[in-house]
Amino acid sequence: MTVENKEVLIELKDINVTYGGVKALDSVNVSFREGEVVALMGPNGAGKSTILKSLFGLAPTTHGVHGGVFWRGNKLDTDLLLPHHMVPLGVTLVPQGKRVFGKLTVKENLEIGGVSLKDKTLLKERIEEVLDLFPVLRTKLHQKSRELSGGQQQMVAIARGLITDPRILLLDEPSLGLAPKVVQEVFQTIKDINQKKGMAIVVVEHNLKSLLPIVDRAYVLDKGKVVAEGKGQDIVDSGIFKKVFLGALE
Ligand SMILES: Nc1ncnc2c1ncn2[C@@H]1O[C@H](COP(=O)(O)OP(=O)(O)OP(=O)(O)O)[C@@H](O)[C@H]1O
Ligand SMILES: [Mg+2]
Repeated sequence: MTVENKEVLIELKDINVTYGGVKALDSVNVSFREGEVVALMGPNGAGKSTILKSLFGLAPTTHGVHGGVFWRGNKLDTDLLLPHHMVPLGVTLVPQGKRVFGKLTVKENLEIGGVSLKDKTLLKERIEEVLDLFPVLRTKLHQKSRELSGGQQQMVAIARGLITDPRILLLDEPSLGLAPKVVQEVFQTIKDINQKKGMAIVVVEHNLKSLLPIVDRAYVLDKGKVVAEGKGQDIVDSGIFKKVFLGALE
């Protein structure tokens, strides 16, 4: 079965987010299928992080009459739109910038990712599983996280997000501050996770060139609205990026 035919896991329909006077999201519609890798792109302040937060119950969302946040086709009640309800459904967010707890060891950071797991044997198994995905972390398990390189810290942050074995992983700028070679490694690992586990991945990224080879689809945002959606190369060919990044879309 191709990705296009897979079940929609999570969907934002006609979603608005307003912060003070700022409309961070303006009637946004996005959906993500089982097993897809989707990029969210657009200039600073476009609303990319707000989309991820809305998918994880961390943004003050409102919606139109037929809108809402839907999980496998079912509308989620507003009081369920909180991270501790989204995690058991299978959603995890690795937020922008905040990487790891520097004073804690790599192992302790990974354990924090599994606080919601009651079964400690399962936690151990999951830690082993993510260490197979990030072998370099195995050698650093008992080191304080702040002693790791930036790329390794980002791997800890992603690995921590994987401990609950989500169906969809939300990554906010995983390449921020990393050298191009490390960016390639992080993206390759993202693709490996997607292929080995069939996990859907939504990734916010400025680094278009490195990301496109690994994505099935992309959304382009500008000023709180989705202005383009499609296969990565089609979006590049459409010239939308030039318009959006030069602020020509008024
Ligand atoms: N907690 C908040 N309080 C007030 N305004 C906010 C808050 N979070 C976001 N905003 C505003 O909402 C808009 C969208 O922000 P968002 O963080 O989603 O953008 P972004 O596309 O992720 O940008 P960047 O590429 O800089 O990370 C911006 O105008 C921002 O200033
Ligand atoms: Mg952001």
